[in-house]
Amino acid sequence: MDECVGGSHIMSNRYAVILAAGKGTRMKSKLYKVLHPVCGKPMVEHIVDQLSNLDIDEIITIIGHGSEMVKEKLGDRTKYALQEEQLGTGHAVQMAEPHLKDKHGTTVVITGDTPLLTRETINELMEYHEKEQAQVTVLTSKFDDPTGYGRVIRNEHNEVEKIVEHKDASEEEKLVNEINTGVYCFDNELLFDALKNVSNDNAQGEYYLPDVLFIAKERGLKVVAHTTTNPEETIGINDRVNLAKAEKIMKRRINEQHMRNGVSIIDDENTYIGPDVQIESDVVIEPGCKITGQTIIKADSIIGPNSEVKDSEIGENTVVKHSVVTESKVGNNVNIGPFAHIRPASDIGDDVKVGNFVEVKKSTIDTNSKVSHLSYIGDAEVGKDANIGCGTITVNYDGKNKHKTIIEDGAFIGCNSNLVAPVIVKKGAYVAAGSTITKDVPEKALSIARSRQENKEGYVERLNKRQ
Ligand code: UD1
Ligand code: MG
Repeated sequence: MDECVGGSHIMSNRYAVILAAGKGTRMKSKLYKVLHPVCGKPMVEHIVDQLSNLDIDEIITIIGHGSEMVKEKLGDRTKYALQEEQLGTGHAVQMAEPHLKDKHGTTVVITGDTPLLTRETINELMEYHEKEQAQVTVLTSKFDDPTGYGRVIRNEHNEVEKIVEHKDASEEEKLVNEINTGVYCFDNELLFDALKNVSNDNAQGEYYLPDVLFIAKERGLKVVAHTTTNPEETIGINDRVNLAKAEKIMKRRINEQHMRNGVSIIDDENTYIGPDVQIESDVVIEPGCKITGQTIIKADSIIGPNSEVKDSEIGENTVVKHSVVTESKVGNNVNIGPFAHIRPASDIGDDVKVGNFVEVKKSTIDTNSKVSHLSYIGDAEVGKDANIGCGTITVNYDGKNKHKTIIEDGAFIGCNSNLVAPVIVKKGAYVAAGSTITKDVPEKALSIARSRQENKEGYVERLNKRQ
């Protein structure tokens, strides 16, 4: 046992079990319930995120439906126990027994469908449990509409007596608005011992985890409740109506955090930022943006309106308007858009301009180069100070393979040119407008590759006479 920092009480070993084996019938979905995303991240992953940094010795996730997909998402951040048949939440926890039996300490159990729960609340529950020296502590919430949740039934001394599921509750019990959030702390040894006595004699024919409270109480053990002051964190997601509610709450929470950190969000109702996005101060997010994945946006940049940025780094003082940027890096003082598409593996240097209706794919564009209008730059390396005229296209695909175009520093590509790859336009070279370039262009040369113009004098008059 370790002495807790602050020294007010003794902290014991801590374990966590996440229940994630259910199919989620009420979601009416091919996707297993705990994998449904909230702000772009699967519900169950939100819980694992919150549990890390909480000094938990071992996290065990109970998997069943969609087990391979859940494992793929969570990786080695948790251990797993398989529940082959979903016989109820009590049965699910029993699957963790091989990992946890004989261990001394506190086991926190969390249902996998409460994605809004924060580490602060989990920690508060664990500390309350330890301070009370209880054998069981359940986290409860007071809801105006408790429909569907298990109700917390207290005795005349206001002590927790038991939890009754909605489907098993009497009319009187249904009036109780204190609900079981599905988050508990148990004395680990008691938990697995008491689970042996849980039966499935109830409306759903399931082994209910909350029955452990009643069993512990009957054994004369200390069973307490800790009522959260943040009930909205504890909503359980059983259907898509609740999923949409969770999305809204999480979105607001993320946006407020950024605003407090110095980000201006012009229309926070209409701005969608993923939980792992980092944004520096004095960034302005205009309405209609979706910023997701491992994105970083550096100071003083303006994103939007109506832009989508995913898994990308945007430098300082850069503007991205009405554009899509995916898995790419964009430097400082860059102008993107309106209506540009930066596709994966692109690297846009400082002071670059990527203008209207320009698509860039798997290409680097170095400092101070401009691709201002209507171009496709794919599989290309563009040097510094290059000017790529309107309508330039890198012809990168021969139907089988992709080939590279290199445009060196200071090159000037005239409008409406095709650069048939593999091809190099060397330093400072010019390409005349309308050229189709199939051979390398030497340094500082001018390449013209278009048919010569012929003017037929008086042609229109002759034509009119004939008619
Ligand atoms: C459960 C609680 C209820 C509480 C509510 C809070 C029980 C019996 N009821 O009800 O008191 O108010 O959560 O949101 O515990 N699961 C498994 N294996 C199973 C069954 C479920 O892993 O055999 C998992 C599910 O994937 C889910 C979680 O346990 O993540 C909870 O199951 P769910 O069916 O959502 O229970 P609720 O009806 O919401
Ligand atoms: Mg539920």
